[in-house]
Amino acid sequence: MRTLRTKRLRLVPVVPANARVLWEVLQKPDLRDFQDLPDLSLDQFVVAVGERPSALQPGATGRFEWLVYAGDAAGAIGWVSLRIAERTRSTAEIGYSIVATHRGRGIATEAVAALVDEGFHHVALQRIRAYCVPENTSSRAVLRRNGFEDDGLLPHGATLAGHPVDVIAHTLERERWETRTTPNREATGS
Ligand SMILES: CC(C)(COP(=O)(O)OP(=O)(O)OC[C@H]1O[C@@H](n2cnc3c(N)ncnc32)[C@H](O)[C@@H]1OP(=O)(O)O)[C@@H](O)C(=O)NCCC(=O)NCCS
Repeated sequence: MRTLRTKRLRLVPVVPANARVLWEVLQKPDLRDFQDLPDLSLDQFVVAVGERPSALQPGATGRFEWLVYAGDAAGAIGWVSLRIAERTRSTAEIGYSIVATHRGRGIATEAVAALVDEGFHHVALQRIRAYCVPENTSSRAVLRRNGFEDDGLLPHGATLAGHPVDVIAHTLERERWETRTTPNREATGS
């Protein structure tokens, strides 16, 4: 995994050494309005991060996460993730959250654009998926602005507060991504 840079953001890979920073972000209650997040102790979380693969390359599987940093903010302001299952290595699922104090400024849109570019450029994925509950209009706007298409309702596609809920599946196919010009296309890794 590598650090991804956009105009305003730095996306830093999550490894055991900085897992505590992500764990602290994950404790914020406003991140759980529309999604269930793991309830692990700090120690359990650091162990779980240590068990993840570190190389993100074509054919890689597992969960990959980055902390989101903005030039004008002191600490991490969110995270983005890419999950690739063993069975479907050409498809990844993304997730993301931005802390409440930094929402509504296009941060998630910019971070997701960088993540999507990394998935298609560097991992050679064929498609990227994202799922969110219908009432999460901000999240759906983030996906729409990044070219994702609405694939319809997936009954009981996720759990929220421990209960099964319907989610809207969103997909961005590689061909569609290639024909789009996004504001972050100059995003680079280092
Ligand atoms: C969903 C979430 C990630 C969106 O983060 P965000 O950084 O606020 O997203 P963006 O700013 O890119 O887009 C959201 C809004 O900002 C507006 N916006 C986009 N670019 C903007 C800019 N440059 N300046 C000002 N506003 C902007 C958008 O119009 C959008 O408005 P809307 O909510 O009225 O549709 C955030 O609300 C969150 O973390 N929620 C809780 C966790 C969650 O739901 N995660 C996703 C699970 S599927």
